[in-house]
Amino acid sequence: MKHPFSSYRPLFPILERTAQLSSCSQSALSLPVRRAIDDYLEVWLRRGADWGYWMDQVAMARAEFARMIHAEPGDVAVLGSVSDAASSIVSALRFEGSQREIVTTTLDFPSLCHVWLAQQPRGAAVRFVQAEAGSTRTTAQIVEAIDARTALVSVSQACYYDGQIVDIAVTGRAARAQGAIQFVDAYQSAGSLAIDVRAQEVDVLAAGAQKYLLGIPGIAFLYVRPALARQLTPTVTGWFGRVNPFAFDPVHLDFADGAARFNTGTPPMMCASVARASMALLNEIGIPPIEDYLAQLSAVALEEAARLGLSVASPAEKGANTAIRVPHAAQVEARMLQAGYVVSARHDVIRVAPHFYNTADEVVGALRELARLTQ
Ligand SMILES: Cc1ncc(COP(=O)(O)O)c(C=O)c1O
Repeated sequence: MKHPFSSYRPLFPILERTAQLSSCSQSALSLPVRRAIDDYLEVWLRRGADWGYWMDQVAMARAEFARMIHAEPGDVAVLGSVSDAASSIVSALRFEGSQREIVTTTLDFPSLCHVWLAQQPRGAAVRFVQAEAGSTRTTAQIVEAIDARTALVSVSQACYYDGQIVDIAVTGRAARAQGAIQFVDAYQSAGSLAIDVRAQEVDVLAAGAQKYLLGIPGIAFLYVRPALARQLTPTVTGWFGRVNPFAFDPVHLDFADGAARFNTGTPPMMCASVARASMALLNEIGIPPIEDYLAQLSAVALEEAARLGLSVASPAEKGANTAIRVPHAAQVEARMLQAGYVVSARHDVIRVAPHFYNTADEVVGALRELARLTQ
């Protein structure tokens, strides 16, 4: 199979000796990212403190993310994690009257579920859809669970465990029909699946940089539909949520226009430098061709796993991650590393999660090694 992005491989030095296939957890370090970190340190060393440079890095990272999801930079807030983004949004909701339910699934990332469960003392009730690994029914199950009691629908666009995909346009429409807001956790999809928040009529979407965005943890981007942002006033806040943070006014609480009102404290500036560089690389290539290539690698992975008789936890229609059930997954992950493959264990599966820089041979090689170690 031809590798359309082979010219980019030298940007990822680890690939010379190790097949890093762990984009569902941590993607590979690229030279532009390393340079961004070096530049940040150099500025710190030479100039001591440079707020102008730091704020520019944050603004540029925000703009790259906005470009990737077809939003305006002003529709994007910058926080420290997806969990923080969820807390900031939910803090603006009131769980009163008959609309108090948060609908989510048992395959959503636990951190998000915890944020929603923490709203129970505020009047919320969490309704868990029992999602199954390998299922293609989750979108329909979420739609069935949404009714007049629903205030918020939280979906993971691509599942961290088995890579299954929820059709966010369908679940969003069902939420809207009941006057509910949809929160999309795009941590496993941003950078690997094309996202168009306007075409997909997204209310709220959050993603961190560590996975398919080729960055590091410590930063998350939060898109909020502009008309919705105007209606919401968060109760979790900080000085970067103000109209002018640098006014240093302790006694007045104003809220910035657009998504900036969901900002909290000092943004993660070094992580923003990284995310700016990594997303610029992704935007240069474009996400749709990356999505196409990852779909081809998925097909290769599923075919090879079937040939090897591996137990696949993922459905046929899925994101980049192929999850293989193995006994003692954490130990297998360590042995795979010794054999030259970086893969990621969760519960009872090993996740093989390539990005655009990986080849079909690396995916096939990892699955063969997995079979050798476990059969
Ligand atoms: C789908 C998904 N959502 C959320 C998270 C956690 O996000 P954060 O640690 O930024 O809150 C992860 C981390 O693996 C994830 O895979």
